[in-house]
Amino acid sequence: MIALHHLNKTYEGDGRQVIALRDINLQIETGEVFGIIGRSGAGKSTLLRTLNLLERPDQGQVLIDGQDATCLDTAGLRVLRRQVGMVFQHFNLLNHRSVANNIRFPLELAGALSKTAINTRVDELLELVGLHAQREQYPSQLSGGQKQRVGIARALANHPKLLLCDEATSALDPQTTQSILQLLLDINRRLGLTIVLITHEMAVVRAICDRVAVIEGGQIVERGPVADVFLHPQHEATRNMVAEDGHAATLDLAGKLGNVSGTLLRLTFVDATTYEPVIAQIGQALAAPMSILQGSVGRIKDRPYGQLIVGFNGDAELAKRAFEERGVRCDVVTV
Ligand SMILES: Nc1ncnc2c1ncn2[C@@H]1O[C@H](COP(=O)(O)OP(=O)(O)OP(=O)(O)O)[C@@H](O)[C@H]1O
Ligand SMILES: [Mg+2]
Repeated sequence: MIALHHLNKTYEGDGRQVIALRDINLQIETGEVFGIIGRSGAGKSTLLRTLNLLERPDQGQVLIDGQDATCLDTAGLRVLRRQVGMVFQHFNLLNHRSVANNIRFPLELAGALSKTAINTRVDELLELVGLHAQREQYPSQLSGGQKQRVGIARALANHPKLLLCDEATSALDPQTTQSILQLLLDINRRLGLTIVLITHEMAVVRAICDRVAVIEGGQIVERGPVADVFLHPQHEATRNMVAEDGHAATLDLAGKLGNVSGTLLRLTFVDATTYEPVIAQIGQALAAPMSILQGSVGRIKDRPYGQLIVGFNGDAELAKRAFEERGVRCDVVTV
């Protein structure tokens, strides 16, 4: 769906240069939910905005369905932007228009449908985002979550093939965040819509993304399936975000465990192995009991996982082999 080749972007102002994007190369597949995560100022919004050419890269190609968007003229860009919906952190609704009229707006702009067809489409969209009861209300009468539902309905109005979300849940409380994320996931699955979202929250990535890229200082420093990146972060920026999220057994153990004798093993269970009594079995087989020192269990999208740090007094190489034969990743941790 999307291929980015060698994107570079530098901002100039006050005699200063800010390199916002450095040689970004990225592929995003049709139908996936792709997350881009990074700290404030990392370049997330700039990168997202290059996908619909709201931001023009200084160098590089932005291929959408094989077509280079950087070469489009004004008319071509207008067509592209109709195919790419966007959802914003602060909703960007028109305050003097009702819910239904906010959703109607992009349909009127596109000018392709009759009045009756527009009304039908607005009804469909209200149904999709669960806002039928609020159709005649104004934005000031809505909760944050409801406003974002309007934002999502508006972004979907013209049947886009790609939905871009810029921190779509950052202004919402945790419960509302979950309901908006579930709505996005539902839309992704029901409509087969490709979604690219940017966020600074690992929890958002864990909840709905298939793959993730980590951006730091305008560069992509790590990427992969969410389970891999989240459970085995390689780059320091990723490790810090995972540690802050607090839902994986952290690698940062120094000083936390006191004096532990033996070897520390970090065990990662994903999918079916999560439910197997592997630790007891291997401890027994090797006649070396293990003590669980730290751990977490949870879900990454719909995949269950568990991650444990265990202390082990025995042959670590043997234990590693035994775990990996049973499909459990085992890393020896040094503190
Ligand atoms: N229009 C602009 N003019 C000058 N510098 C800019 C402009 N837009 C962004 N920048 C700079 O480019 C860098 C990347 O900004 P960007 O908005 O992409 O970050 P971000 O990752 O989205 O951050 P946040 O999480 O705070 O939204 C920052 O250093 C920012 O100050
Ligand atoms: Mg931003």
